[in-house]
Amino acid sequence: MASILSLRKVCKTYGENTKNPTKVLFDVDLEFEESSFNAIIGQSGSGKSTLLNIVGSLDRPTTGDILFKNESLAKLSKNDLAAFRNRSLGFIFQFHYLLPEFTALENVLMPYRISKQPITDEVMNRANELLDIVGLGNFKNKLATNLSGGQQQRVAIARSLINNPAIVLADEPTGNLDSDTTEKVYELLREINQKFKTTFIIITHDRTVAEKTDRVIEIKDGRVYLDISK
Ligand SMILES: Nc1ncnc2c1ncn2[C@@H]1O[C@H](COP(=O)(O)OP(=O)(O)O)[C@@H](O)[C@H]1O
Ligand SMILES: [Mg+2]
Repeated sequence: MASILSLRKVCKTYGENTKNPTKVLFDVDLEFEESSFNAIIGQSGSGKSTLLNIVGSLDRPTTGDILFKNESLAKLSKNDLAAFRNRSLGFIFQFHYLLPEFTALENVLMPYRISKQPITDEVMNRANELLDIVGLGNFKNKLATNLSGGQQQRVAIARSLINNPAIVLADEPTGNLDSDTTEKVYELLREINQKFKTTFIIITHDRTVAEKTDRVIEIKDGRVYLDISK
């Protein structure tokens, strides 16, 4: 299997030039394979979100580098990083950040509107297909505010896939959902992983969820503590 993403000795210190710098990540080396389905677990405050934000180029490491398909991200300018993010990454967060007064379909298309890319027939078809895949075929024209929590998170999942990203990064995507809905959302993510060969890296505090993934990485005090592949 080919590597899609590598972290090389990634360190992160917040407030580096202040009186109280906080070192959060210590020499994290990780390799992610194409099409793999990975869970990151660890106690609150262990550095999981910091790590995911760095992996997603929303934040830069203090030292160390990230390679995407063997290309260093450290060399990219801010604009090039943003372009890379739009092209290659999808994000799902605990709070879905849908726009309540827009329909499910409009929310899925939002990344295009925001980046002022034209919504071609192909993009429109993809948005419709994604909403079908996440089981919202009959809810496309409903306002987000009128959907249940689980349905809203499904819209957010469809939105994260609109650019056909190579990697989807999710930070506690089911943190707000009940256990039945959580299970369904994970089945859905797994289906998408298999159908589109999308690589998933998912932070979860739910061990039963983590057990269903290909690999579980446990972060403890900013270090990789366990790394178990099945
Ligand atoms: N922007 C920030 N500035 C300073 N400290 C931060 C910042 N973000 C997170 N931290 C600290 O870094 C540590 C790890 O946080 P985080 O990555 O959010 O952990 P987790 O997601 O595992 O709960 C915590 O001690 C947190 O307080
Ligand atoms: Mg977190």
